[in-house]
Amino acid sequence: MSKKLVINPKLYDILDNAPEEEVSRQEYFIEKLREEVEEREKRLGRKLKCMVNTFGCQMNARDSEKILGVLEKAGYEEAEDEKHADFVIYNTCTVRENANNKVYGRLGYLGSLKRKNPDMIIALCGCMMQEEHVREKIKETYRFVDLVFGTHNIFKFAELVVNAVYTNKQVMEVWDSTDKIVEELPIVRKYSFKSGINIMFGCNNFCSYCIVPYVRGRERSRKPEDIINEIKTLVEDGVTEIMLLGQNVNSYGKELETPMTFAELLSKITEIDGLKRIRFMTSHPKDLSDELIEVMASSDKICKHLHLPVQSGSTEILRVMNRKYTKEQYLALVDKIRARIPDISLTTDIIVGFPGETEEDFEETIDLVKKVRYDSIFTFIYSKRTGTPAAKMENQVPEDVVSARFDRLLDVVQKISNENMEKLTGFTVEVLVEDVNSQLEGYVTGRLENNAIVHFKGDKSLIGKYINVTLDECKGFYFIGTAKA
Ligand code: 5AD
Ligand code: SF4
Repeated sequence: MSKKLVINPKLYDILDNAPEEEVSRQEYFIEKLREEVEEREKRLGRKLKCMVNTFGCQMNARDSEKILGVLEKAGYEEAEDEKHADFVIYNTCTVRENANNKVYGRLGYLGSLKRKNPDMIIALCGCMMQEEHVREKIKETYRFVDLVFGTHNIFKFAELVVNAVYTNKQVMEVWDSTDKIVEELPIVRKYSFKSGINIMFGCNNFCSYCIVPYVRGRERSRKPEDIINEIKTLVEDGVTEIMLLGQNVNSYGKELETPMTFAELLSKITEIDGLKRIRFMTSHPKDLSDELIEVMASSDKICKHLHLPVQSGSTEILRVMNRKYTKEQYLALVDKIRARIPDISLTTDIIVGFPGETEEDFEETIDLVKKVRYDSIFTFIYSKRTGTPAAKMENQVPEDVVSARFDRLLDVVQKISNENMEKLTGFTVEVLVEDVNSQLEGYVTGRLENNAIVHFKGDKSLIGKYINVTLDECKGFYFIGTAKA
């Protein structure tokens, strides 16, 4: 039986008085949420806690910082786990099926927590919510979820929460697209010294396996002046390392009123005083320009690291994937980059078991990996995503074949990345200290320019500082080192 809709009359009053202009509107709703939080705190005699659980990529991580920003401004403190939280939100990913399954699995557990704490608010957002079949399942099976929203209306978070708080019904608002980019909302950064910055949203590439263009919409670039102002503010606030984020940063700026290339944007960003390290992801090989290679080569601030997803080494598979380059073109691009920036660290993504992948196709992938000798590779088992062209392809590869190929690839990948890392042993490099080490007492963890990490003796006073560290011992994907006096 469905619940009768009950709306707290307070909500009508709140909605009537809400300003129109988007930023003031959301600030207003944050304030209303804060009043509600205070009331609940008085009633319970304790502070309210929240938990933001992030799945998926760096873009989601950045969105989660915005969500946490709103919740903290409204008075919530961060809880260490769901059990101790009055507000739980899952920021979901749907790039691969197992990410979806993880969320469904956790939802069952959240339902049991809510039975013990009926005041608990449960919200879901992110890419998975953009899919209709997911929303149907939540409506039918997970009635206890209070709020569902998508990737296009995340800036409405405060308003949506207020709506959910004052009605007893599931609030579900997911937009198909948006032309709005609302960015001036509060943010709580995970690290004080480094930050991600969205430079564009969405993707126009429609790789045949990928759900992203359907859930994140078309490419929209932020205006360069907004990006630069945001970075300047971050730098004033102590940030020295930034990561420019977009599904395909190489096509930045094409649809702006005054078009600008990614290389031009990057070059302007290098001029910001106080900024020490600039990273970016993700680059699509088909759009990586000579101009970008030049800008990377000529600035000390841009980390000599390039994440350049290849997906497959087989020209035929690349064609069916709609990647728009051949194996030879990719290898030629790598040669060109290495000729100009010899010490560049290259990393990639590879999908194993794309429909129709033959043993020969897979051998081509192994061959490419051996030729490029990546420092690290994210390897993925192909996952069928409903709604993408690849999902309808008939020649899906049997699971046992995929899993055997995956293991073979992993062996090759690990051997090469170990050899690459091994070569750095004995060198002294500058690292940015990110955290105290939770496993090794008395140690901190620093990140090298190439994104590798090193653990060395130190305390929390070093966090956020650049330290020269000698890489004493290579442990596979990390080092043990010593700070240079
Ligand atoms: N199956 C497996 N991996 C995928 N990726 C994207 N879509 C799929 C899929 N359907 C991988 C790609 C991409 C990375 C972010 O996720 O390798 O570069
Ligand atoms: Fe997906 Fe391809 Fe766009 Fe990357 S470039 S987000 S893999 S469609």
